[in-house]
Amino acid sequence: MRAIIFDLDGVLVSTDHFHDDAWRALARRLKISFDETACRRLRGVSQMAALELVLEQSPRRYTAAEKEALAAEKNTAYRAHIAGMTPADVADSTRTTLRSLKRRGLLLAVGSSSKNARFILEQTALTSYFDAIVDGNEITRSKPDPEVFLKAAAKLDVSPAEALVVEDAAAGIRAARSGGFQSAALGPDAAEEGLASHQIQNLADLLALV
Ligand code: G6P
Ligand code: MG
Repeated sequence: MRAIIFDLDGVLVSTDHFHDDAWRALARRLKISFDETACRRLRGVSQMAALELVLEQSPRRYTAAEKEALAAEKNTAYRAHIAGMTPADVADSTRTTLRSLKRRGLLLAVGSSSKNARFILEQTALTSYFDAIVDGNEITRSKPDPEVFLKAAAKLDVSPAEALVVEDAAAGIRAARSGGFQSAALGPDAAEEGLASHQIQNLADLLALV
């Protein structure tokens, strides 16, 4: 193993409740039902793909321009939440683990579907830990497509077989698998389909895997 590619939301930071709040507010305004199951389906999925999943519950059809405006509305609400993030929003054990992995000579990358990934990494002072970052602005196909992880591996100059993907979402584990990566499922959602190479309970468990 030469490299580790981390998902961001739900793995390095906990921003999913901010996504949920912002989607819930939009769904409420549009009078669309939106529950816990709906929230979980959006994990790891790009902004526009997530919007399509939210709008599935609506009898109304929206034009491309309307969808752009709805995605922007949700993103504004989401960014208002993440603008308040600070380095204190990253667990000490996360920083310690990243430092230990680097000390062992592993290359580290972020592979996130989020267009806000770089903003979150800056707010939380995580950027400097990573040798490569690929976010939602650099991909055309969302997880479960492996594009984001393949781009991260290419930036690190490693093959998929030499890299481990760490994910909390089922879509992310499927992406890792179809890209030829080993994967570590963090938490129950990622482990659900039984497709991950490893299961971990917290990031520090990685130290025993690599
Ligand atoms: C992550 C989150 C998803 C979110 C996606 C896009 O993968 O888990 O819930 O939909 O990023 O994020 P963005 O910041 O571009 O809306
Ligand atoms: Mg995630």
